[in-house]
Amino acid sequence: MDNLRILFVDENPQQIKDLVLTLNALGNPWEIQIIDSPTTALKAMRGRSFDVVITDIGMREMNGAEFMRHVHRSYPGTVRLILSDVEDKDAVLASVGYAHQCLSKPCTPGALWTAMTRSLRLRKTLDSNLMHRQISQIRSLPTLPQTYYDLIDILQSKDPSIKDIADVIQTDVGMTAKLLQILNSAFYGLTTRINTPLQAVSLLGLDKINALITTSGIFLQFDVPSIKELNVEGICNHSIQTGHYARLIARMLELEPTVCEDALLAGMLHDVGKLVELAYFRPGLKEAINSARMDMKPLYLTEREQMGVNHSQVGAYLLALWGLPDPIVEAAAYHHEPTRAGEPEVGVLACVHIANAMLRDSNASTLVCEGVGLERNYLEELNLIDRIDQFKELCAPLITER
Ligand SMILES: [Fe+2]
Ligand SMILES: [Fe+2]
Repeated sequence: MDNLRILFVDENPQQIKDLVLTLNALGNPWEIQIIDSPTTALKAMRGRSFDVVITDIGMREMNGAEFMRHVHRSYPGTVRLILSDVEDKDAVLASVGYAHQCLSKPCTPGALWTAMTRSLRLRKTLDSNLMHRQISQIRSLPTLPQTYYDLIDILQSKDPSIKDIADVIQTDVGMTAKLLQILNSAFYGLTTRINTPLQAVSLLGLDKINALITTSGIFLQFDVPSIKELNVEGICNHSIQTGHYARLIARMLELEPTVCEDALLAGMLHDVGKLVELAYFRPGLKEAINSARMDMKPLYLTEREQMGVNHSQVGAYLLALWGLPDPIVEAAAYHHEPTRAGEPEVGVLACVHIANAMLRDSNASTLVCEGVGLERNYLEELNLIDRIDQFKELCAPLITER
């Protein structure tokens, strides 16, 4: 990665200096600046741009959440990371709309390096500065209005249940993605990764989930009008089906239970880029849908022609920026073209690719919104080509349920 400019903002810079020494020893061409005052840092940012800004959450002059709010507003294209102690959970929650990820202190150089470079590597595929700046400033995704109202109803009921809340959230792609971003940040002290809405809601507890939904603004009802046949509800339905089917395939292939759960989540989030485009890149998406119809081409190809990128790249960049796990990001990035992902492997990506292609083949309403079907070369390499009929059989009940 060339000339990555990193700014650390911490009132106790000594700890950071040790971290920086190790980062430098990794041999990467970083340009690192450490500033011990958030106000001075904001002034410095006026004079030069930074790719990544990393701040301590508990600064006296201006806390990290407030600092990130300024950075988000003035420098939306910057990758924004927060370093925090475990006891700062409330402060971390206050920052989730403005920072991309939160890492626990003391932070290992490896964890920091991963958090910085994953999203920046994907950013390179976006080409356009404007696009990555727009994606970097996204605080929330379109949600189904009904999801929001159902959650409010449950929270206002006499005996709100965690499971009921999780059941509602997991029908909504935007909320699921946001909740997992928050949890994988805010509860950084955990040794296990959070990969289901039920785990996330259970860990947050009713009070915090109530505050997030009713006052934080990041779960606000945020519906966007359809563009032709593409709308939030359709994307959510297709995503839920893809997730369920991807998990069924993973189980049929006798993959590890954690892989099966990752397949469910990855399927749920594989088309998150469409929500981003629907909300933030509407003119380009509209053109791409028109071209896909007229030229009978897969949408992901016409998106590339019209906007320079497609929903796979857009979604993967956002998920990486939000700190979601690698298998989930990879499935979003390559679900149409899995051979681009490198060494083929029977894992999460394969299950999502098959599930997505099967559902697309069987569902006319998603035809223009999806791509070509299965990549047969890929399945041959995975020795799965003879199992296509089994996959179809497995998929059949899900299709008829619609
Ligand atoms: Fe897709
Ligand atoms: Fe899809």
